[in-house]
Amino acid sequence: MSTSTQELDVRSIPPVRRHPEIFRTFDTLAAGGAFVLVNDHEPRPLLYQFQVERPGQFEWNVLETGPELWRVEIARRREVGSRSVSDFLGTDHRRLDAIAVEVDCLVHAGYFAEAQRRFAEFRCGLDRHIEEEEKVLFPLFEERTGSADGPTAVMRDEHVRIRRGMGQTATAIHDMDREGYAESTRALRELLEEHNRKEEMILYPMTDRLAGGERERDDIVRRMQAMAPEE
Ligand SMILES: [Fe+2]
Ligand SMILES: [Fe+2]
Repeated sequence: MSTSTQELDVRSIPPVRRHPEIFRTFDTLAAGGAFVLVNDHEPRPLLYQFQVERPGQFEWNVLETGPELWRVEIARRREVGSRSVSDFLGTDHRRLDAIAVEVDCLVHAGYFAEAQRRFAEFRCGLDRHIEEEEKVLFPLFEERTGSADGPTAVMRDEHVRIRRGMGQTATAIHDMDREGYAESTRALRELLEEHNRKEEMILYPMTDRLAGGERERDDIVRRMQAMAPEE
């Protein structure tokens, strides 16, 4: 998402007209386009409606989760149709990498307030990505392989270190500490590169193979989007 991505603030729209207006905005997007939905609560019913009415056509990227504002980037996918775990989570890795590059540019240019705002969106996204893996993906992998002390144990351990690294980077940006930022962000980038590579090479493709077929893969993706471990 670039900083020029259009926003649709639905707080001033009467509730009955909100969903039609949101779908109308989505339907006018070009492939690869996006808008940011702004609301004062979690728009979960809207997500479920998108999953039913525009299956496989959108990305749901949460940028902010309250307490006052909920902001979600809704993007139109270039490809449509059924999804795999590898595609869904791999796409999110690349989205988050791109935000990290933006934050880097902002810090180097000395725009710390903007860097702080954008890094908060990165952190929100990566926190949710980790939760999607830990609440939906890993339990399924562990159940199908009968092992909870294999690759998922290593990944959970790395998640703790990734979250710690995000905390250190956030502090450095907040303190306008360029040196601290350079150090913490280098460590975080190295950790993430290695972590994401292992997930994309091993864990995601294995889960795709362990799933019962296209329908189950779509279902896993839907549950990760909603962060709903059970149906
Ligand atoms: Fe992970
Ligand atoms: Fe991941």
